Amino acid sequence: MLQAVNVSKSYGDTLVLDDVSVQVGKGEFVCVVGRSGSGKSSLLNVLSTLTRPDSGHVLYQGENVTAMGEGRINRLRHKDFSIIFQLHHLLPYLTALENVMVPFMNTLRPIGQEIRDKAAECLERVGLGGKGNRLPGNLSGGEQQRVAIARALVKSPEVLFADEPTGSLDKRNGDGIVELLRDLHTEGVSLVMVTHDMGYARLAQRTVVMEDGRVVDGEEVECVTHPKDAVAGEIITQA
Ligand SMILES: Nc1ncnc2c1ncn2[C@@H]1O[C@H](COP(=O)(O)OP(=O)(O)OP(=O)(O)O)[C@@H](O)[C@H]1O
Ligand SMILES: [Mg+2]
Repeated sequence: MLQAVNVSKSYGDTLVLDDVSVQVGKGEFVCVVGRSGSGKSSLLNVLSTLTRPDSGHVLYQGENVTAMGEGRINRLRHKDFSIIFQLHHLLPYLTALENVMVPFMNTLRPIGQEIRDKAAECLERVGLGGKGNRLPGNLSGGEQQRVAIARALVKSPEVLFADEPTGSLDKRNGDGIVELLRDLHTEGVSLVMVTHDMGYARLAQRTVVMEDGRVVDGEEVECVTHPKDAVAGEIITQA
């Protein structure tokens, strides 16, 4: 469904993705792991079309996204993809409910009741039904991350990208977030999640291990068949 094919990307002299190939099947849950700076976020950004690779290409539903013009890529990303960022990027001056409606905010059309209801439903779903009127500054870190998830859900995406969604949270809040994401996956959403936590990575159907901009050994670890993969475990322990 979604595939990076021999993708490379440099910033100046630094090669951050080096001939990376990865695929995500429809409805699949894929985790990307590896130490800090290994290129996990860069890979997620390329897969989610936020960054165009220098070489190689990204295929989505058989189409070469990399060859598309900016307008078409933006429309595709808006329609089918949702991204939960490493830092959640909530707008501090909007309430939780308004933040969830951000994907539908543009200058051309006012927000209708249908979207308002859907946003409220998504907040309910992440356990924040009663807190829609709070500003992010008046929510805990875990709650803010939940708002970011509600914002990602409001579009009913085909593919959900999550870059260390539990990074700033304690174990209990992190577990809650991962549980939510897994529920969504169970409902048919394709999920690509970057994580440092091998416990979470083992929940995925496939784990991609990154090291210095490359997928280790050019292989993706099938976690379903090898739930305690030693290679992935070692790399994370060193991180
Ligand atoms: N926009 C950018 N400009 C220059 N260098 C960048 C840019 N984005 C990433 N890099 C560099 O690319 C490398 C990989 O970064 P990336 O953010 O993909 O790592 P990561 O695996 O997500 O790390 P972390 O676990 O710390 O989030 C790093 O050396 C980083 O400094
Ligand atoms: Mg990162």
